[in-house]
Amino acid sequence: MNKTSDNFNSSSIQSSALNSRHLIALEKLTCKEIELILETAREMKKVFIASKEGTRSVKKVPALQGRTVVMLFFEPSTRTRNSFELAAKRLSADVVSIAVSVSSTTKGESIIDTVRNLEAMACDIIVVRHKSSGVPELLSHKVRSAIVNAGDGAHEHPSQGLLDIFTLKERFGSIEGLNLLIVGDILHSRVARSDIWGLTKLGAKVTLVGPPTLVPQGLEMPGVEIQYDLDSALPSADAVMLLRIQQERMESTFFPSLREYSHRYGLNKKRLSLAKKHCVVLHPGPINRGVEIDSEIADGPRSVILDQVTNGVAVRMSILYLLAGKL
Ligand code: CP
Repeated sequence: MNKTSDNFNSSSIQSSALNSRHLIALEKLTCKEIELILETAREMKKVFIASKEGTRSVKKVPALQGRTVVMLFFEPSTRTRNSFELAAKRLSADVVSIAVSVSSTTKGESIIDTVRNLEAMACDIIVVRHKSSGVPELLSHKVRSAIVNAGDGAHEHPSQGLLDIFTLKERFGSIEGLNLLIVGDILHSRVARSDIWGLTKLGAKVTLVGPPTLVPQGLEMPGVEIQYDLDSALPSADAVMLLRIQQERMESTFFPSLREYSHRYGLNKKRLSLAKKHCVVLHPGPINRGVEIDSEIADGPRSVILDQVTNGVAVRMSILYLLAGKL
């Protein structure tokens, strides 16, 4: 791997310190590995800040020069796909984005054959999103490249979990002892599962809040609590993360109407006033304004939603950099 320059301090980072060359799930990472990714992301973010402040002329570092990163998204994405692509480009990697809808997968080619063919073109890291849980894990056993899970079914979305933790750590200094409320469609949420694993490993408490039909029982574990009434859960929250109702994954009816859902679980000004003064608001996006969150909260002073997006690039630079060190 190339040495980096300017404000990026690569000498303080052990790029081979991750146990695996794949990133599949926060369930599989140790606290030490999570801390390493966050620490490396802090170094990566300095590159942006320096370029914004004019003390650095380019946003790039040459760390992944000569490496090729492939985006293979079988589901739509705005944030994850583009920030992984930007992250790879800011590390000076070559980037290939596969347009799945016009690829040979539409002619019946399997995903394993697709990835093996990409490998034959000398690709190094493959970032995969798929509607089925377990596809990135399966690929990691079948191919030589590094596989990064960009979201698989309702299983995990590890880079989102890491950027959420990064954003909370940036705001609060430490994760230990924080109480994060995750509100809404927990049942279909891979983000909730990654946040639960990552945050509880670092000593936070996670409270899952939603209608009983959207909060599965199997998620109870040390550090996780379930509540069904948002108003009574809010006063103890340090941070609240709203989740979108994933209607595209629902095969039956889980609540009477969106209006009724919003009435009981939507975050508005009156409801947020029940929370502590320092309580911040997160959302992984995309937002359904007026359903799970009102615009004045999403765009208001307690929202860190766009900080999450900015931090996503730094965290994904960190992930790609550290995985490339394993190749
Ligand atoms: N948070 C998230 O995964 O957003 P995208 O679906 O736009 O990638």
